[in-house]
Amino acid sequence: MEIIDAIKERHSVRQYLDKEIDGEVAEQLRDFIFACNEESGAHFQLILQEPKAMNCMLAKYGSFKNASNYIALVAPKDGFEEKVGYFGEKCVLKAKQLGLESCWVAGSYKKIPEAMAIDKGEKIHMIITVGYGAVPGRPHKSKRFESVSNLSDDSPEWFKRGVEAALLAPTAINQQKFYFEQKGDKVKATAGFGPYSKTDLGIVKLHFEIGAGKENFSFE
Ligand SMILES: Cc1cc2nc3c(=O)[nH]c(=O)nc-3n(C[C@H](O)[C@H](O)[C@H](O)COP(=O)(O)O)c2cc1C
Repeated sequence: MEIIDAIKERHSVRQYLDKEIDGEVAEQLRDFIFACNEESGAHFQLILQEPKAMNCMLAKYGSFKNASNYIALVAPKDGFEEKVGYFGEKCVLKAKQLGLESCWVAGSYKKIPEAMAIDKGEKIHMIITVGYGAVPGRPHKSKRFESVSNLSDDSPEWFKRGVEAALLAPTAINQQKFYFEQKGDKVKATAGFGPYSKTDLGIVKLHFEIGAGKENFSFE
């Protein structure tokens, strides 16, 4: 699956089959996570068959089912929110390409520190549940292009494609509190006010970059 199709076909899925992730698939995802860590300085880890994090009341309330596999987004405590979003979403899209559904979880889970390695100066920022979907995900409601960007009739086609991909991204409580401003080949991306909006910014910047094509612009 092409990465742009992973963007189009990804939706949050909270209910999974009670089925172990195939060994080969898990290995590929682990290798990918490792490469992301090398690049970013994060310490993300794939945690398999660990049902406690998503067995709490909050998770059940959020209608999660069989969510016993997840990527623990462990990373330096300070100033890492945007990177957690950017590199976490890379893992989400890779998981989709490998046939796995996913859901970002910032609130409705219990931290199980003994299931992972957390070095000095690091914390668990949030988790991303992964697994074989028991139900299909559904497209989310989206804001309009003009509420999240300065897109106009004169904008280049790549800018439109970038904003389109950003609008398909997961954001906390689907808040879509971001703004893309294009001037020539420069793009300024800013986060609005809202819970986890800095992490959302990293996520939508990755989507934008994939949609627009890195060769067409640079972020300010
Ligand atoms: C940073 C972040 C935190 C999230 N936290 C939760 C959460 O705690 N519980 C939950 O059920 N969904 C959570 N989500 C999933 C969003 O609700 C979901 O991405 C959004 O509604 C858009 O839907 P979609 O992912 O299907 O496109 C989170 C998403 C992001 C990006």
